[in-house]
Amino acid sequence: MKTGVIENHKTNVYTKEKQAQLEELTKVVAQSSYLPELHIYPKAGLMNDPNGLAYFNQKYYVFFQWYPFAPVHGLKHWGKTTSKDLIHWSEQEPALIPDRHYEKNGCYSGNAFEYEDKLYLFYTANFKTPAGKIPKQALAIMDKDEKIIKVEKLIIDSGVEGLSGELRDPYVFSRNGLFYMLLGGSKFEGDEHPGFGEEGVLLLYKSENLLDWNYQGLIDLPIDTGYMLECPSLIEVDGKEVLFLSPMGMASDETRLNNRFATVYLVGELDLEERIFKTDQWDEMDAGFDFYAPQAFYKEKQPLMMAWFGCGEPEYPVDEQWQHGLTFTQKLHLKHGKLLRFPVDEILGAFSEGENVTTKSIMPNTSTYHLQLTDGFDFRVGSKEDYWSFTYDTDKEEACISREGLDQIIDETFGFERKAKVKHLTVVDVFVDNSFVEIYLNEGEIVFSFRVFQQITGTIYSTAHILVGTLNKKK
Ligand code: FRU
Repeated sequence: MKTGVIENHKTNVYTKEKQAQLEELTKVVAQSSYLPELHIYPKAGLMNDPNGLAYFNQKYYVFFQWYPFAPVHGLKHWGKTTSKDLIHWSEQEPALIPDRHYEKNGCYSGNAFEYEDKLYLFYTANFKTPAGKIPKQALAIMDKDEKIIKVEKLIIDSGVEGLSGELRDPYVFSRNGLFYMLLGGSKFEGDEHPGFGEEGVLLLYKSENLLDWNYQGLIDLPIDTGYMLECPSLIEVDGKEVLFLSPMGMASDETRLNNRFATVYLVGELDLEERIFKTDQWDEMDAGFDFYAPQAFYKEKQPLMMAWFGCGEPEYPVDEQWQHGLTFTQKLHLKHGKLLRFPVDEILGAFSEGENVTTKSIMPNTSTYHLQLTDGFDFRVGSKEDYWSFTYDTDKEEACISREGLDQIIDETFGFERKAKVKHLTVVDVFVDNSFVEIYLNEGEIVFSFRVFQQITGTIYSTAHILVGTLNKKK
């Protein structure tokens, strides 16, 4: 049970009068021993999906799903933070507050689209009724002075026959002078009923002015889409299109898709006329425990992304005034048709060059560090009583992370291990940022993102040659 210091209900709406209360919570969070240095985390309350990611007006904008008043999935606001270098982030503030009747159950996820020097923020206005949700998609427009104005007329105010009311997470992009929107949804196989249907679907809408939208139909996908699709995202990477999807209820296979909800990417081409994603290949996006709802965006032509560093409602051992955070900003590339993700250069530059270490155990002097292994590969982080580990089985060509040795157990329901097949492992980059860990194999061919909560971080046991970089002082 999570206990709020000041309030513990889920329906608090931010107003200026509540600023003092939020500051109190922020002070409590600042005392936590699990705070990262480089990852974005909520100054109070719960953060989930990244929203409205953009490089706009010479700055990076990160909006995010936020319940500021308690570490629970309460009434969602959009929080906002900005940065010039992806390392230093501005104070977080509420950007979209669910204060209109049409969004009475929260301002849900969506993306940002730059148009005529303004940032158009598309989002789902969450509206529940006893008979199920009534789908509503909304728009707010931000100018270069960061003034945000909600467009009071909903841009989509109806559902689609045969689909459940759970339609959400608009992702808007342009093609040949026209605008398109992807939306996640759920289809009924038989009779309609409240809640989710039985199959996840991807909807396509079209617009000439970003305000009036027309439904085009469903997009054909060659994968098991579970019972509901969330958070679609589309981005051009090295001449191909890459589609991110977060399906709920996708079946797991031997080593992949073992989390509560899956996240996958498809590489190919979106045919808007035929409404089909012509897929060359697809895969699970992250092999770790805590990853969901990635969103893609561009800095000029460079494709980038961030994801929620969490998945569903994981049971973390800590009971503090903050929950979750976002992954590093990652740059995207394709190699032999596979998606590679790797931290942006700004993040790599935040660590010292690295020192070669060959001893059995090392103790970095910070809880934020970068390890690079080019041989040996197996290692353990922590003490005998409290550790997590990485191993690579050369015969099976399988990498494995395990949280079984941790003193503070995390979400037992979904197991202690995650595995991934990887041929010819040549380099492992590990970024430990206190309780946030990202491990990149072969420069991002496979990525494990996961949380650990250790009393003392930093003792590493390994027989490999390790290059250890520690965090440069943040200026
Ligand atoms: C994904 C999601 C979205 C929704 C938002 C609500 O994590 O469930 O589908 O818009 O989170 O916070």
